[in-house]
Amino acid sequence: MTYSLQGKTISLGVTGSIACYKAVDLASKLMQLNADVDVLMTPSALRFLTPLTFTAITHRPVITSMFDPQSELSINHVAAAERADLVAVVPATANSLAKIAHGRADDPVSATILATRAPVLVAPAMDANMFESPATQANVELLRQRSIYVAGPAEGRMASGLVGRGRLLEPAELVGHIRILLGRAGDLAGRKIVVSAGGTREAIDPVRVIANHSSGKMGYAIAEAARDRGAQAVIVSAPTALPDPTGVKVARINSALEMGHALDRECADADAVIMAAAVADWRVAQIAEQKVKKTGADTWTIDLVKNPDLIAGIHADRLVKVGFAAESEDLIDNARAKIQSKGLHMIVANDITAEDAGFAVDDNRVIILDREGSIERLPLMSKYDVGVEILDRVIPLLGSLA
Ligand code: CTP
Repeated sequence: MTYSLQGKTISLGVTGSIACYKAVDLASKLMQLNADVDVLMTPSALRFLTPLTFTAITHRPVITSMFDPQSELSINHVAAAERADLVAVVPATANSLAKIAHGRADDPVSATILATRAPVLVAPAMDANMFESPATQANVELLRQRSIYVAGPAEGRMASGLVGRGRLLEPAELVGHIRILLGRAGDLAGRKIVVSAGGTREAIDPVRVIANHSSGKMGYAIAEAARDRGAQAVIVSAPTALPDPTGVKVARINSALEMGHALDRECADADAVIMAAAVADWRVAQIAEQKVKKTGADTWTIDLVKNPDLIAGIHADRLVKVGFAAESEDLIDNARAKIQSKGLHMIVANDITAEDAGFAVDDNRVIILDREGSIERLPLMSKYDVGVEILDRVIPLLGSLA
């Protein structure tokens, strides 16, 4: 998914762990998202990597000393602390966690944390025994109490060869955590947004299913956009090849009936439901318990019964309901009729015959219609940006229902 961090300055504090090679990848990912990245390194980090590695990626000088008269920033760590929208310590060693917890300021990273007003994320990386030690655990607890965001560590194999909890999260996950922290006070903070995604599967027998071409990308992108604005985002997901987005709850289901039950559970305390899933209209009347064998016949008839309309069944007096309409003809008329029949506040219609938009690709071109009769044609854009546009229109409705 493409989503920009344009205009955001991230101060990336790198401390001395072998995992600091992942900080290079993280810096690169943040640059690809158009963030401005200031790197600060501790003396121990300098034993693993050179400042040149980061400068080549960030196109900015790396702050390696508290007292560098050559620096373009006069009091460098203080300036970095002030201009940061977020300070991320990746990787954070046991020693650096201890320093941050106790307010030390004897290297550029700990000094920046002391000086900043921006939100702070630490991503621990160390030997499992060091992480589990009472001293480190107490320090982590102290950091959490001070609203410092602790990302990870993960379970897994560490550089020592041992397996345990202490592995630095992967850069893609760290980007997700950075986005969560940046969006924490966003305009969806305190709201729960439920999104359905993917194509449901109706079993015929233990090996066969009736499925459809939905990839789930649209629904996952909406949930990520909601997460990035501070929402508690939940995806009720039919089978997809997509990984769980960081910080988003994913409830996995197969059939339309299972999706209905999961939606009932999740919507009970939700503020909005956005139905991006392609729900099977029909299910097999009698699912065979054993694999159906080829008989002598040349045809096979399967009886189907209608599935309930899931979005129509969700009561709209306390939550905003957004539907999708995938159409191959009479787009506007069909979409309008679905607003009525399903009791929607809004519908997002797309022409599934377009090759550059819709199923399985990263972009979409949609028309948003609402109850009041407005019709907005949006240009081709990333599915994440379509999610942003939908949420921009959901937010004012949330106010009217609250
Ligand atoms: N939908 C639903 N439950 C169903 C079928 C569809 O909740 N059993 C939702 C979809 O997730 C989507 C909207 O209704 O948000 C419209 O889906 P679509 O397939 O376009 O419409 P249908 O109601 O199935 O009508 P038709 O297939 O006749 O176009």
